Amino acid sequence: MDSIGQKIENIKRSGGYRELRYINSAQGSSAVIDGRRVLLLSSNNYLGLCNDERLKEAAIEAVKTYGVGSGGSRLTTGSMALHRELEERIASFKKRECGMVYNTGYMANLGTISGLTDESWTVFSDRLNHASIVDGCRLSKAKFVVYKHCDIKDLEKKLKRYKGKNNLVVTDGVFSMDGNIAPLKDILRIAKRHGAMTMVDDAHATGVIGKHGRGTEEYLGLEGEVDIQMGTLSKALGGEGGFIASRKEIVEYLRHRAKSFVYSTALSPATLATALASISIVESESFSREKLRIDSAWFRAELQAMGFSVPDGVTPIIPILVGDSDLGMEFSRRLMESRIYIPCIRPPTVPKNTSRLRVTIMATHKREELEWALEVLKDLGAELGITRGVGADG
Ligand SMILES: Cc1ncc(COP(=O)(O)O)c(C=O)c1O
Repeated sequence: MDSIGQKIENIKRSGGYRELRYINSAQGSSAVIDGRRVLLLSSNNYLGLCNDERLKEAAIEAVKTYGVGSGGSRLTTGSMALHRELEERIASFKKRECGMVYNTGYMANLGTISGLTDESWTVFSDRLNHASIVDGCRLSKAKFVVYKHCDIKDLEKKLKRYKGKNNLVVTDGVFSMDGNIAPLKDILRIAKRHGAMTMVDDAHATGVIGKHGRGTEEYLGLEGEVDIQMGTLSKALGGEGGFIASRKEIVEYLRHRAKSFVYSTALSPATLATALASISIVESESFSREKLRIDSAWFRAELQAMGFSVPDGVTPIIPILVGDSDLGMEFSRRLMESRIYIPCIRPPTVPKNTSRLRVTIMATHKREELEWALEVLKDLGAELGITRGVGADG
């Protein structure tokens, strides 16, 4: 058996070794990393709410009133009135009967899928679904069937072949590493045809797409059609935590069966108050979402015109596909030297040979910052041979 030390060496040899970078400031469009202020061009803080004064005020007030900890798990002494208020608010935001808060989005997927399903179920999952969905499926006793990414024909073929007594189709709404949107209308049609329940992970859609920021369903005009809406409070909403919104009986059942809900100390008052404030901002401030949409479309088009391999899309997640991990790492390192932070995303987070720089735009980015970043990206892309030369002068 390899020692742990040998395993670490193997990770290093394969080019997969990862280092933590520590941020020493509030997160705006820029932040201080290793003592230098750098432009953040890869954060999930899409609306810039991480450092919003209104959210900070809400957190401070909650700490003054309720203290800092919840002191217990949800089914013992940890459920505070703020939990109930937030769960009701999530239900009204997502237009469902009930909301249920978990401590993270990861725990929401893990607990919901493994708590809902047992050996009588088959779970059908998109190949590029987030790791927390995959782990939820693995933890469950259900049969786990993976269908090709966004491939409706493959989903239907597999539903016909592997359908069990109970079935669940689960997909990311917006895929985290590619930024594309799931073909939800077709997924719902096929799932209905085969009597399967549906679950959508809207971690990167909540607050970002749809007129009121309600996510993929709202964006595609399908509100109310998905059985279980999952989301996070940690990305566009600027704080932390995860949730589902669904029918009353599903939430009631999961309160008994979702282990990540039952066996973990509940979220703190400050976190809950922050989320309550951010949902109201997200719902009412569509101008921020609109700016994000316009800036993202422009930035994506500029990168494409420079010859970078960037897929079409409508979300603020803009992957620059590089392929080779070493080249991606070098690109990221050189950008950091120029004070732009875009980590390289490598396997196993993304499939082999698809390493990428995952650019994300925030509503708080200034035009000048983005224009400057484009200049730097253009020069480096040409120097490192990443752009194909279209529009690049190097
Ligand atoms: C698609 C998706 N689902 C779930 C999660 C987990 O959410 P959280 O970071 O709140 O645990 C993430 C975030 O990493 C994600 O990208």
